[in-house]
Amino acid sequence: MMWLTLLYSITGGAALLYALYRWLIPAVVQYHAGLALIWHDVIVERILDTVTQSTRPQRILGAVQQNATRGDPRSVVRAIDQYCRNQEWAMNVGDEKGCILDSVVSEVNPATVLELGTYCGYSTVRIASLLPPHAKLITLEFNPEFAVIARQVIAWAGLEDKIQLVEGASGDLIPKMKEQFGVETFDLVFLDHWKDRYLPDTKLMEECGLLRKGSVLLADNVICPGTPDYLEFVRSSPRYESQYFKSHLEYTKVEDGLEKSVFLG
Ligand SMILES: C[S@@+](CC[C@H](N)C(=O)[O-])C[C@H]1O[C@@H](n2cnc3c(N)ncnc32)[C@H](O)[C@@H]1O
Repeated sequence: MMWLTLLYSITGGAALLYALYRWLIPAVVQYHAGLALIWHDVIVERILDTVTQSTRPQRILGAVQQNATRGDPRSVVRAIDQYCRNQEWAMNVGDEKGCILDSVVSEVNPATVLELGTYCGYSTVRIASLLPPHAKLITLEFNPEFAVIARQVIAWAGLEDKIQLVEGASGDLIPKMKEQFGVETFDLVFLDHWKDRYLPDTKLMEECGLLRKGSVLLADNVICPGTPDYLEFVRSSPRYESQYFKSHLEYTKVEDGLEKSVFLG
């Protein structure tokens, strides 16, 4: 009898812990930016890294290899979204803001694109799949472990020819764009790297002559985690015409959005 009670208590406790981990805590934290980031980006990531002896980007790549069709970029995007909505949050721009990104890419129809912050290549694949023939996307990533995964995700999507992934820090690479990468100006820049770099890198792109009249800057996470100095700059400068697209932090219900800023020259 005592053994039976013990067994019931252990099973019940395990079921409760699982429900807390899988549904209850994620449901509660999805409305709170700080809690969501601590839960997903610190606690869950560490638990899964320890249990699976792999990294989050490796698990995302695994989801792509299992569920996406080679050479089909949209199936790659879908596989990552499904994994990150149902299994494990990750800092991709995500499906909801991704639709805004898609519409800006389609509207600008750029021949040259710069992406700051590749991570696993989710937004890289999203953007490149919408580019016209002969267009070029350069994406910068300073974490070599992320770059290794992103190259494989891009290859799985069949988009290697359109994308040049460059490893290094934006502050070092932006000044080399003209001479080493043969770019005159960018039609579209997607800013999605560390938030304190948005403003200095925008000023650097201006200084290096990489923006032309009509170049579009699209900045992610301007509300969460937030880029107040950048927003203040593009919204008050007479050199930009800026517009906010309200949305939600990837895979949550916390407010976040994209800022589209057209460089007026
Ligand atoms: C939010 S993630 C990018 C997500 C990606 N754009 C997507 O939506 O799939 C930010 C990435 O920027 C990289 N990063 C941050 N600061 C950087 C910098 N100054 N230069 C290059 N990469 C940077 C980080 O290592 C990280 O992988």
